[in-house]
Amino acid sequence: MSHNTFGHLFRVTTWGESHGPALGCVVDGCPPGLPLTVADIQYWLNRRAPGTSRFVTQRREPDEVKILSGVFEDDRTEGQVTTGTPISLMIENVDQRGKDYDDIRDLYRPGHADYVYDAKYGLRDYRGGGRSSARETAARVAAGAVARRVLGEVQIRAAVVQIGKIGIDRTRWDWAETENNPFWCPDAETAKRWEELLDATRKDGNSIGAIVEVEATGVPAGWGAPVYGKLDAEIAGALMSINAVKGVEIGAGFGAAELTGVENADEMRAGNDGKPVFLSNAAGGVLGGISTGQPIVARLAIKPTSSILTARQTITRDGQNADVSTKGRHDPCVGIRAAPVAEAMLACVLADAMLRHRGQTGRS
Ligand SMILES: Cc1cc2nc3c(=O)[nH]c(=O)nc-3n(C[C@H](O)[C@H](O)[C@H](O)COP(=O)(O)O)c2cc1C
Repeated sequence: MSHNTFGHLFRVTTWGESHGPALGCVVDGCPPGLPLTVADIQYWLNRRAPGTSRFVTQRREPDEVKILSGVFEDDRTEGQVTTGTPISLMIENVDQRGKDYDDIRDLYRPGHADYVYDAKYGLRDYRGGGRSSARETAARVAAGAVARRVLGEVQIRAAVVQIGKIGIDRTRWDWAETENNPFWCPDAETAKRWEELLDATRKDGNSIGAIVEVEATGVPAGWGAPVYGKLDAEIAGALMSINAVKGVEIGAGFGAAELTGVENADEMRAGNDGKPVFLSNAAGGVLGGISTGQPIVARLAIKPTSSILTARQTITRDGQNADVSTKGRHDPCVGIRAAPVAEAMLACVLADAMLRHRGQTGRS
C-alpha cells in the first residue's frame, strides 16, 4: 500500500494498524533546534485519547508516545531539541481485543472500509478495521504536536459546533468553554442538550454525525502557492483524509452559494501599521490559495459512527445476505474525537506551507 505520506518540506508518514503491536509516524523535514519533549507531544495525544468520558469509546489506550529518533540534548542545547533528522514517534497498542472482531471476519460492516479493502487487496485485517481504523489518527496528532513547534506563535484550535440537528448558538461562543465539557463545545447551554441527545442515541443502539470547526490564528499573509499548491486545497485534502469526514468547507463554504457579492465581499480598510484590516472573513483566511493574514477557518462534516448495536443489512465475504450489528467499544459520535485530529492536520499543512514559503521567498 502506498500513499501513507503527506506534505512536502514538512513530510509525515504514518504507519501501523489498530490491533498491531504499535503505530506511529515519521516526521521528516522538521527544522533543527526546536524544543521537543515527550510531554509536548503527550499533551495533545491525551486530548484525542479514548476513554475520557462516557460519550467516547471505552477502549483503554493510554496512547503513551515514545520518541525514537530526531532529538538530542546536551549541556549546550537548553533541553531536548530537534536535530533536523527524521523524528520517529511510536505509540503502543495495549488494549487490543482481537476476539471482539471474530464475528465480523467474514461480514462487511456498512459504512466501514471492510468491503473496499477486500476488493482492493484481496484480504483485510478485520481486527478493529486494521489500517482503516481511526487508531491511525493518534499518529497524526503526534505529528501535529511537532508541527505546532515549527509554527511557534500560530494558534490552532477546534470546536464541535453541531451534533445531529443541534447547532451551537454562535453569540454564546466562548473558547474557554471547550475545555469544560466532554464535547469541545464552545457554548455551555448547547453542551447540556448534546448530553441528553447522545445518551438517548446510545440507548437506541444508534450513533450521530457532527460538524467540527477548526481555526488557525497568527498565520501571516503569504503562505500557500498558486496554483496546485493552494493552501485551501491542501487544507481541504488533509481534513478530508480524516476517517469519517464527508465534507469540508473553508470560510463561508457552501453558505457562499447563498450570498450576494455585496454580502461576500471581505471589505478592506487601511490599518494603522499600513497593513490591511479586513471587515469580514467570508474567505476563511485564504484568497487565491494564499493566506490573507486573517484567521484560517475550516469546517468538517463527520458522519455518524458506523459501528452500531442496531442490526443493519449487509453481505458476507462470499456474497450471502446477512445482518450485522457491531459489538465492541465505539464512540456514539466520532465527531467529538475528530476535533483534536482536525487541529493536528491543519498544523501539519500549515507547518509545511510555512517552510515552503520560507524556502521560496526567504521570509517567514
Ligand atoms: C477519532 C475517530 C474515531 C473513530 N472511531 C470509530 C468507531 O469507534 N467506530 C466506527 O464505526 N467508526 C469510527 N471512526 C470512523 C471510521 O474509522 C471510518 O468511518 C471508517 O474507517 C471508514 O472510512 P470513511 O468513513 O472515512 O470512509 C472514527 C473516526 C475518528 C475520526
